[in-house]
Amino acid sequence: MQPSKAEDVQAWEPRIVAFLCNWCSYAGADLAGVSRIQYPPNVWVVRVPCSGRFNPLYIIKALQSGADGVLVSGCHPGDCHYISGNLAARRKFSMIKDLLGYAGIEPERVQFTWVSASEGGRYAEIVDKVVSQVRALGPNKKLRKCPGQAGLGAAAR
Ligand code: FES
Repeated sequence: MQPSKAEDVQAWEPRIVAFLCNWCSYAGADLAGVSRIQYPPNVWVVRVPCSGRFNPLYIIKALQSGADGVLVSGCHPGDCHYISGNLAARRKFSMIKDLLGYAGIEPERVQFTWVSASEGGRYAEIVDKVVSQVRALGPNKKLRKCPGQAGLGAAAR
């Protein structure tokens, strides 16, 4: 028996892919974990050496592969271990966000932020906010490849 539409909506949980820089945001996420700060378990973390290393195509690939939202986070301005990678990341992010908006992707689905290694609580708050906003939007149906193709779950294995 096929599940009803109402059951599908109830079972749906947002899937967020988070690209976190190794030195600050990833450490902040780690601190949230070791501090046992509660936050939604809806995030797949991809650790990158620096947020400046993130390629805008990663966002498109994540959305195509079944992500409902994407978060990019790096060190605060002035704290990047590679001087200005975070500022380059913000410029790249701004460009791709405009392009995604043109393609009909809601602005809340793709977000950019700064989190330091000492901000475990801030990381948890940001994840909470992003998950809530994406949950309110519902599943991502734009850019997504056919359901029969390998999705985010398969990519994470
Ligand atoms: Fe964290 Fe560059 S090292 S943003």
